[in-house]
Amino acid sequence: MWDISAGPTLKDDEFESLRNLIRDKCGIYFDDSSRYILEKRLAGRIKELKFNTFKEYIFFLKYDKKKEDEFTFIYDVITTNETYFFREDYQLKAFKEEIIPELIELKKDDKNIRIWSAGCSTGEEPYTIAMIIYEVQDLIKDYRVTIFGSDISQRCLKIAREGIYNANSFRTTSEAIKRKYFDEIEQGKWQVKQNIRELVSFGQLNLLDRTKMSILPTMDIIFCRNVLIYFDMNSRKKVIDNFFEKLIPGGFLLLGHAESLINISTDFTIKHFKNDMVYLKPKV
Ligand SMILES: C[S@@+](CC[C@H](N)C(=O)[O-])C[C@H]1O[C@@H](n2cnc3c(N)ncnc32)[C@H](O)[C@@H]1O
Repeated sequence: MWDISAGPTLKDDEFESLRNLIRDKCGIYFDDSSRYILEKRLAGRIKELKFNTFKEYIFFLKYDKKKEDEFTFIYDVITTNETYFFREDYQLKAFKEEIIPELIELKKDDKNIRIWSAGCSTGEEPYTIAMIIYEVQDLIKDYRVTIFGSDISQRCLKIAREGIYNANSFRTTSEAIKRKYFDEIEQGKWQVKQNIRELVSFGQLNLLDRTKMSILPTMDIIFCRNVLIYFDMNSRKKVIDNFFEKLIPGGFLLLGHAESLINISTDFTIKHFKNDMVYLKPKV
């Protein structure tokens, strides 16, 4: 039964069809326990578009000429965008103290370093990378460093480009770093300083979109942290294969602490640093 005040309910076959559609488009997989979340996040939209049932909405998503625009909306509401500055600090320590020196050596002839934060959400991760880079003066003086932040959610990217954050983003940021790299623009709102923002550029990218991915240049390091945990196994494999192609030989892949390549790929080798272990694309 459909109760107008509560919005449409998601029936078994509709749930199956909707979650498969979403999985095939962007890799995110809603397991049975997340059914209610999906229903709750989309019920309001269905009412807004004046559909009566999820079935009608699914038909629209499959066949309407505006379906791509609707997916842009869907990505904004179904993604989990939790993030903050200096997340997973032991890995960032490995990045600063152990990976960057290797990179300086690896790129000593070319002097161009490209780092990709894939699934950057509202921008805290790529800006963190930029701040760390800034602390390594040799890198800033002698190399051209580009940091690319991409996400599927346009809503997140808008926030990322503005670079304005509140206390929630600063859970693990020291006061010294905050004062050095941010301007307080109003009570409780802090904007990333221009010199850091200049190192980062943002773009919308679905990690399953091979065509768009092929336009990106090769990368020296890819951070893809806390993104693939939401994907089904098959989509994880596709994304990791794409990353392998995009990385230079000797380049690094950094995943979140809850993620690994077990049962996903054997192309990478594991490199153990003092502070963390990361994945390496072998040189030969
Ligand atoms: C939990 S956040 C992680 C943010 C950051 N990497 C971190 O670890 O703090 C996951 C992000 O992945 C993005 N995402 C999910 N599916 C994606 C896809 N198919 N392509 C690109 N980004 C995606 C979401 O929009 C979300 O902002």
